[in-house]
Amino acid sequence: MKKLFVKTYGCQMNAYDSAKMADLLAPLGYATTDVPDGADMVILNTCHIREKAAEKVYSELGRLKTLKADKAKSGGRMLLAVAGCVAQAEGAEIVARQPAVDLVVGPQSYHRLPEMIARAFLTVQEGCDKFCTFCVVPYTRGSEHSRTPEAILREARQLADKGAREIVLLGQNVNAYESNGWSLAKLCAGLAEIEGIARIRYTTSHPRDMGDDLIAAHGGNAKLMPYLHLPVQSGSDTVLEAMNRGHGGDDYRRLIARIRNQRPDIALTSDFIVGFPGESDADFEATLQLVRDIGYATAFSFKYSKRPGTPASTMRKQISEDVKAARLAVLQKLLLEQQYAFDDSQIGKRLPVLFEKVAREPGQIMGRTPYLQPVHVQADAAWIGQVAEVQIERRTANSLHGALVQGQSA
Ligand code: 5AD
Ligand code: SF4
Repeated sequence: MKKLFVKTYGCQMNAYDSAKMADLLAPLGYATTDVPDGADMVILNTCHIREKAAEKVYSELGRLKTLKADKAKSGGRMLLAVAGCVAQAEGAEIVARQPAVDLVVGPQSYHRLPEMIARAFLTVQEGCDKFCTFCVVPYTRGSEHSRTPEAILREARQLADKGAREIVLLGQNVNAYESNGWSLAKLCAGLAEIEGIARIRYTTSHPRDMGDDLIAAHGGNAKLMPYLHLPVQSGSDTVLEAMNRGHGGDDYRRLIARIRNQRPDIALTSDFIVGFPGESDADFEATLQLVRDIGYATAFSFKYSKRPGTPASTMRKQISEDVKAARLAVLQKLLLEQQYAFDDSQIGKRLPVLFEKVAREPGQIMGRTPYLQPVHVQADAAWIGQVAEVQIERRTANSLHGALVQGQSA
């Protein structure tokens, strides 16, 4: 059993919420304790009513930081969370002022606590050097920069100790990751060695940065999930050129073929922009053809919109709203058909599911397949934070439904 200490400030409502959080964390193996010393997790459930409430929280956090450091010295870990009204009001500010804080969770999000712990998002790369002509990111986020593998692996080990089973590596151009000769593929190999981590994902990638070793990792690294978000934006070479994407439609098709050669079942997703300046009917048809050729598991699609300061915003031949809306509807219909086809292809299969949270329907819990599809299962909440085999039985509009394969114990 892991020890959970919850300190409650303020009203009866907060006391009620503290009990609720303790209930939510019980399936992850947390039992409440009366003192913060030596606890595996400490939650400050804060209240904003009294004067200087935030200041009191920060001074309490200062004391807890010392306890956390003591625990680390003896080889343990203390997860430090701030909940309640101060969390709501101050948000990310809290982590900026007290980096020892691991989680900030507002009153609307308590039900997400277990998934926040089971699945960790880890920023490994920031910025972009690609300068796609429609995009503000290179101006707002600056040039590509990667964190060191040492810092990332250290943080991942800590997250795994706290109960993270899935690590999602984040970056604007995450597959451009490069630090001290480490590529993203090498980083994923390092992460795969960490005990407790069952699943690794990364997002978002650029087709130009899909290195040979990363493609190979999709075949060779068993913890790297068969899921890839690889935005293509358009299927027309003319539009791709005007977007400054640095590749054509057939380059992307060949790339996907090489990835599928390594991992035939991989779930592919993408971003699309319709109505980029100058996009003709034939250009749009080329996008539809590319979608038909590839076959996506799901995708995001957007109407082009002008972003001030970007080259495309001043291009001639801007497309009318009506045309954009009509094209988006056609594309989204096709993408939804593909999504349903992909989901249906899992029916009858037995898949490992990582359970994240209690579902809205009583007695059900929700988890995800290796392909990131949500699955609802009638099962004990003790499964949350764990991977179990599920027989996939049917699909509803937004989710798969299945049954736990018998003989497994939480
Ligand atoms: N208009 C429409 N969509 C855009 N995106 C980025 N900039 C724009 C824009 N100006 C989309 C791209 C990108 C995703 C994150 O947002 O498809 O991949
Ligand atoms: Fe960079 Fe992606 Fe924006 Fe292109 S769309 S400039 S790759 S962040």
